[in-house]
Amino acid sequence: MGSTMEYLLAPLDGFTDCRYRQAYADTVGGLPRAIAPFVVLVPGRRVRLSHLRDLWPEYNRGMAVEPQILGNEEAYFPAMVEALRAYGYNSLNWNLGCPIRSVAAKHRGSGLLPYPAQVDRFLERAYACTQGGFGLSVKIRLGYRDRAEIWPLLDVLNRYPLRYVAVHPRTGVQGYGGRPDWDFLETVLPHVKAPVYYSGDIFTVEDAHRLSQRFPAIQVCLLGRGVLNDPFLPRRLHGETIAPDTARRQCLALMERLHENQLAYGIRPQSVLKRLKPYWLRLDRHLYGLSDDWTARMKTVQTLTDYADLIKEYGNI
Ligand SMILES: Cc1cc2nc3c(=O)[nH]c(=O)nc-3n(C[C@H](O)[C@H](O)[C@H](O)COP(=O)(O)O)c2cc1C
Repeated sequence: MGSTMEYLLAPLDGFTDCRYRQAYADTVGGLPRAIAPFVVLVPGRRVRLSHLRDLWPEYNRGMAVEPQILGNEEAYFPAMVEALRAYGYNSLNWNLGCPIRSVAAKHRGSGLLPYPAQVDRFLERAYACTQGGFGLSVKIRLGYRDRAEIWPLLDVLNRYPLRYVAVHPRTGVQGYGGRPDWDFLETVLPHVKAPVYYSGDIFTVEDAHRLSQRFPAIQVCLLGRGVLNDPFLPRRLHGETIAPDTARRQCLALMERLHENQLAYGIRPQSVLKRLKPYWLRLDRHLYGLSDDWTARMKTVQTLTDYADLIKEYGNI
């Protein structure tokens, strides 16, 4: 499909960490850029190096990664920028989309969307301390409770030279329910000064095609759950036909590499199993030939030996 859309790996906390990003780049490929899952703004004049471990350059050789921050304390921002600069980053994304209740209740993530004055204060301070080529962008939803919240928010955002505004067109309270509101997005788009990146529910080549048709002005699309569902989605979007056998084989390679990366990162073998399972359970069963019985056993597997047997079984089918 001849589309000029650029696809990025969306931040998925708990999934698209450096172990996954590196494994993905080494085995699947086709997604050269990612926004990393959020790191929380923390008090203090210096950010501890371990707090930013996911962003350490040695774990991030496979994809170009942009860090993301979560928080509302402008006073904590300068130390974070300094730490990120020291690792060679020259831009970051501010998370104004996280829907988790406990986060939003503290006016963080999407919980900050109804408070444009606070957003303004934050951005003013952020821009004041990022003179010299450090880029800022935001990732938003349409509002926290109500889509009308976006208008005063845009008045603020449009006053700053944001690199882009990534929009996941749902409200915060909606979580992941319902569908992204493309009609409302259409009314919003002409009022956003910065380039808009799209995020939300692109699971198939057809979904991406509909998006490009409907919003030709959008040049960049984030892929999140669609990649977990089908790791080969980005390559399909670039026009490749992937035989089911190849997809299965390379998916196995991806998961093996992820396993190795978890161990190399220092995660204990028992925890590795807990971390690997959700990736298998997010895969499209049909595309990847996962039977109900196999999936049920993967859900309940308790030991790495039994896990290895399940993987072997999958590889032999
Ligand atoms: C498990 C999970 C973790 C997420 N973590 C983040 C995050 O750290 N930062 C962020 O901006 N969005 C996060 N999101 C939102 C996604 O980046 C994306 O905007 C949303 O899932 C819709 O896109 P999708 O349908 O392509 O997944 C997360 C979503 C999920 C399901």
